[in-house]
Amino acid sequence: MSHACTRLTDRLRLEPIGARLAGDLFALYQDADVARWYGRWTREQVEQEVARIAQSWLVDGVHKWMAYERVTGECVGRGGLSRTRVEGRERLELGWALHRQFWGRGYATEIGRAGLELAFGELGAQEVASFTEVHNHRSRAVMERLGFEYSKDITVSDEPFALYLLARGADRSPAAGEGV
Ligand SMILES: CC(C)(COP(=O)(O)OP(=O)(O)OC[C@H]1O[C@@H](n2cnc3c(N)ncnc32)[C@H](O)[C@@H]1OP(=O)(O)O)[C@@H](O)C(=O)NCCC(=O)NCCS
Repeated sequence: MSHACTRLTDRLRLEPIGARLAGDLFALYQDADVARWYGRWTREQVEQEVARIAQSWLVDGVHKWMAYERVTGECVGRGGLSRTRVEGRERLELGWALHRQFWGRGYATEIGRAGLELAFGELGAQEVASFTEVHNHRSRAVMERLGFEYSKDITVSDEPFALYLLARGADRSPAAGEGV
């Protein structure tokens, strides 16, 4: 079952990523403070990526959202869940990336809460994973704010990453989203 619907949080509108949002994802990956972690993407790579994500929404029932301020309509970034193989196991992974101008407002935490609500609610997950480069302190802080516990260091693409896990019932998130 696909959960590809628009969701609202207190301040954000979350839209499942698909072809029509390719321009917004491309703009996000042009932001130098985001590219530092994800590398520079060409428009063609982003087009392929949104096609892959749209397919995952259909096949896996879930993938990332683009996030927009409800009040201004401005694109703040992207985030949410995806089904990813980590340490030999398929897991629900939660992530976030915001345009630099929107850091420091709690938007990544708000996207994360919506992802946890979907994971532990409609998807009935027992556990959610999140991982980032060991020195990505801002991303690790989001995980800790959401109640994730550090599990161990892992290797992703030959780089050291910190793996965090959050078990069902242990999350500190209040209900965050309403489907529309
Ligand atoms: C990782 C990233 C998304 C974190 O963004 P962020 O703005 O630091 O995280 P949050 O949205 O949770 O905001 C937390 C900050 O907002 C503040 N804040 C303000 N209002 C808040 C609210 N309502 N709720 C929570 N925090 C709030 C917090 O105090 C905190 O401030 P601080 O960093 O000065 O301590 C951002 O740095 C980013 O996009 N980095 C580049 C991409 C990236 O690295 N992605 C992760 C790869 S795995």
